[in-house]
Amino acid sequence: MKQASLAGAGLLAFPSLNAAPAASPHRPGFREYLPSLEWERSLPAPELKARLLANENPWGPSPQARLAIMESAVEGNRYQHQAASALRKEIAAFEGVSEDHIVVAPGSSDILEKMAIMHYLEEGNLVTADPAYMSLIKTARQMGAQWNKVKLAADWSHDLEGMASAIDKHTRLVYICNPNNPTGTLTDPDKLRDFCRTVSKDVPVFVDEAYLEFLPNRAKQTMVKTIQEGHNVIVARTFSKIHGMAGLRVGYGVMQPEMRQQVDGIWRNNMSLCKTSLMGAMASLRDTGFQEMSREKTAAAREQTYVGLEKLGLEYVPSHTSFILFPLAVEGQAFLDDMFAHGVGVRVFDVHGKTHCRVSMGTPEEIDLFLESLGSVLAK
Ligand SMILES: Cc1ncc(COP(=O)(O)O)c(C=O)c1O
Repeated sequence: MKQASLAGAGLLAFPSLNAAPAASPHRPGFREYLPSLEWERSLPAPELKARLLANENPWGPSPQARLAIMESAVEGNRYQHQAASALRKEIAAFEGVSEDHIVVAPGSSDILEKMAIMHYLEEGNLVTADPAYMSLIKTARQMGAQWNKVKLAADWSHDLEGMASAIDKHTRLVYICNPNNPTGTLTDPDKLRDFCRTVSKDVPVFVDEAYLEFLPNRAKQTMVKTIQEGHNVIVARTFSKIHGMAGLRVGYGVMQPEMRQQVDGIWRNNMSLCKTSLMGAMASLRDTGFQEMSREKTAAAREQTYVGLEKLGLEYVPSHTSFILFPLAVEGQAFLDDMFAHGVGVRVFDVHGKTHCRVSMGTPEEIDLFLESLGSVLAK
C-alpha cells in the first residue's frame, strides 16, 4: 500500500525515495490505519466537511495574530533574526526563565526531531510510553536507537515507576507527552515533576507539552519549574494548538543553556523562521482573550462529543486536550474509509489489539456531522 500511495503521489520518479521503506517503528501494540488506496485513487479527493484528524484549532489564528501577519508581510524581503530574538525574549518572560533557555523553531516537530538527532547519533535507547506521540520516536529509530516502551497504566496515565525501571546505562533520552497524544490523558504533574527531578540526574527528560494550554491551570501543570530549578529537562510547546497556528509553524523549547548551546550546533540559526509567523506568534501570545476562548470552545466541544458518544452507547477516554480517543468494536480500515466517505476525517489506531478512533475537537457543526456520520457508519 505504501508503494502504491507513493506512486499515486508521483514520488516514484525519484529513485532515492523509492528505496525499501525502513522498518515501521510501530509495533503491533500501536498501529495506525491510513485511508485506503481506493480512497486515494478517487482523485480529486472530495473535500472533507469536517477535518477532525490533526488536532487543529478551528477558531485560529487569533484576530490579533492575523493583523500582525498581514502588517509584517511587507518585510518579507529581510531575514528575521531580530524578530526571532524578540519572540524568544517574550517567551522567556512568559516562562519565567532567561532567554538563553529558549529555542524558537518552525513548529515543535522541529524540536522533537533535533532532540532525537542530538541524542541518538551513537548506539543508545529511548524510553517512552506506549502509546505515545510518534514523531520523536520515529526519528530516533531512524537514527538507530532502540525503543524501550512502557505500557500506559490502566487509567492511561504514565507508568512512571515502569519508565524509571526501563532506563539502563544505554538510555539517552526519556520522552513523555503530557497530556498524552493519542490518549488525551494527564499524568499527575507533582508525580511527573518528582520523576523529572530524579531521572534527569542520569538522563535528560523531554516533556512534550503541546496540549498543556487546554488545561485551565497551565502554570500548575508545566514541567518548566524543574528547568528553573536547574534540572536537565526539556519542555516543548507549540503555537499549533491553543493558538490555532498549525500552518504557520512556530514552536519553542525550554531547556538548560548548555543544552541550548548544543542544539545551536545543529540548528539553522533562525534561518528556518518566517517573519509573518514570528510576528503572528508574538501577537497571539499577548492575546490571552483568544486563548481563553479557544480553551472554552474546546471544552464545550468535548462535552458535546461526550454526550453524543454516550447516546450511541460508546465509551470514551475522558480528555484534557483538543481530541478524544474512544474504542470501537469494528475493523479499523473499513471504519476509517466509511468516515472519510461521509466527508469526516478522523484518525484510527489499533491500541493494544483494539480499534480506537481519535477525533479532534471542531466547531459545533463539525462535531454534529461527526456524530451523525459515526451513528450511520456503526449502524451499517
Ligand atoms: C504531542 C504533539 N507534539 C508535537 C506536535 C507537533 O506540533 P507542531 O510541529 O505543529 O508544533 C503535535 C502535533 O499534533 C503533537 O500532537
